[in-house]
Amino acid sequence: MKLIVVENYEEMSRVAADKIKAVVNENPNAILGLATGSTPVGTYKELIEMNKNNEIDFSQIKTVNLDEYIGLGEKDPQSYRYFMNENLFNHINIKKENTFVPNGLAKDIEEEAKNYDMKIDELGGIDIQILGIGSNGHIAFNEPADALTSGTHLTQLTESTIAANSRFFNSIDEVPKTALTMGVGQIMKSKRILLLANGDSKADAVKEIFSGKITSKNPATMLQMHKDVTVIVDKKVGELIKNN
Ligand code: PGA
Repeated sequence: MKLIVVENYEEMSRVAADKIKAVVNENPNAILGLATGSTPVGTYKELIEMNKNNEIDFSQIKTVNLDEYIGLGEKDPQSYRYFMNENLFNHINIKKENTFVPNGLAKDIEEEAKNYDMKIDELGGIDIQILGIGSNGHIAFNEPADALTSGTHLTQLTESTIAANSRFFNSIDEVPKTALTMGVGQIMKSKRILLLANGDSKADAVKEIFSGKITSKNPATMLQMHKDVTVIVDKKVGELIKNN
């Protein structure tokens, strides 16, 4: 695993966007695995700017997202489909039909999960997967648990995740309790993984990724089994990792 320590959020976003640009420029048909949350917003801003400046072309690119809340549709401003449209897709030359986010309104969630994994396989797998990390070590919505799930599946969000994500909602009661998420096995099948973490609250979880121990209590520690992971952290997280 490679660790890159950057000065701040802005630099993290620039470095991450450069890495995505390199993948897209090498393969204009690449499959990008995308994430939601505060962490990748700056990266998406950089990609939008690059696209405006003709430095990156998304016309043949396909994207798959990690997760979606159950019960929220694309018109709901809290849904991850809405987030992706607003923060990236509406501002770049990507074809909407080439962007995939699990359907949180699917009547048959198990069927949707199965089809989502089939879709990813059909596309040929993910060339580069962007990940944030929860302060509890979750990646996508794979929460700490006694056992992790490999494929896309329905998951119960933990209290800490619901509390953390309530900042995007009017009240904590509005945060969905369940989500559809890509499983850890599917994430691990990505050819390359780029994990971004900034802010003190992420330091303990990130530190464990470099501990040599793998535990389902911190799903991100699984990434140690992958052969091409780059972790980009800001200086504060970097220091906390090194000093502990
Ligand atoms: P954040 O979320 O980017 O909003 O901090 C990351 C995550 O929970 O995976």
